[in-house]
Amino acid sequence: MGTLSGKTAVITGSGRRKGLGEAIARKLASEGANIVLSDVGKPRDAATGEGHIGTTDEMESIAEELRGLGVNVSTCVCDVRSLEEVRALAKHASETHGSLDIWVNNAGIGYIMKPLLEVSEADWRAVIDVNLTGAFFGLKAAAEAMIGQGKGGRIVNIASQAAKSGFPHAQAYTSSKHGLVGLVRSAAIELGPHGITVNNVCPNHVTTGLGAWQNEYFSKVTGAASVDEYMTNMKNRIPMRRPGLPEDTANAVAWLCTDQAAYITAESMNVSGGEEPH
Ligand SMILES: NC(=O)c1ccc[n+]([C@@H]2O[C@H](COP(=O)([O-])OP(=O)(O)OC[C@H]3O[C@@H](n4cnc5c(N)ncnc54)[C@H](O)[C@@H]3O)[C@@H](O)[C@H]2O)c1
Repeated sequence: MGTLSGKTAVITGSGRRKGLGEAIARKLASEGANIVLSDVGKPRDAATGEGHIGTTDEMESIAEELRGLGVNVSTCVCDVRSLEEVRALAKHASETHGSLDIWVNNAGIGYIMKPLLEVSEADWRAVIDVNLTGAFFGLKAAAEAMIGQGKGGRIVNIASQAAKSGFPHAQAYTSSKHGLVGLVRSAAIELGPHGITVNNVCPNHVTTGLGAWQNEYFSKVTGAASVDEYMTNMKNRIPMRRPGLPEDTANAVAWLCTDQAAYITAESMNVSGGEEPH
């Protein structure tokens, strides 16, 4: 029996290999939760471009692997920018698994990065739409379902170190993640009386698919001689002397979903090896 036995967890943006979403799904499953993997499924536009997203095939192959481990897992394609699709995802979880207890807003994009003066209105809106509006839609759909069930719940957003500090070429990304800090503080007040906690986990850098793209991009922006030099500089400024691993974030999410964290809400918890102290 794991700490999450009998619970059902939805993780958005969890259909991409090596991503935080996949790691969170594996960890929650290892604690006994039923898992709903969800992702955008196919390239839809500039904000969800080829090579940057979890495809349906990729998501299904992760699901098959989890089934092989004995996990009760289902999949559901969902673009978090559509409230209709997000509500359908919540309905899928409740109908397929009998309840909805944990919702992780993990879907996010971080590859539309440009110097401030080159950021277009479309660039800005694209990032805010996925990272902030998408999380709001997830929170809303999860809260509707959880309040209806009347047995509490857990909502966790994957924010970022960029929810606490500024980064160059990342105005929209940083603003979207700072926005999540306000979102949990506000939502926690209204959802607390229903036994629903709402928190952010704020990882520093993790070399996922997105993280690998950022390593290349920021090594050029910072003038590092190579990606290796950029990574060495990164390691040296982190007190724990390494970047984050997907499992570091997944462990924090899993703990926030247990009974032990029942009194923790409205928080934005750093998982940064000491790099982000605020
Ligand atoms: N990798 C890092 O260094 C890092 C650090 C801090 C926070 N984060 C955050 O963690 C989350 C996961 O990022 P990751 O590094 O695993 O990247 P990733 O690219 O592996 O995962 C992001 C997932 O979001 C999905 N997605 C994108 N747009 C979507 C949409 N409109 N609807 C549904 N799904 C959509 C993608 O398909 C992908 O599967 C993101 O919110 C990111 O901002 C990442």
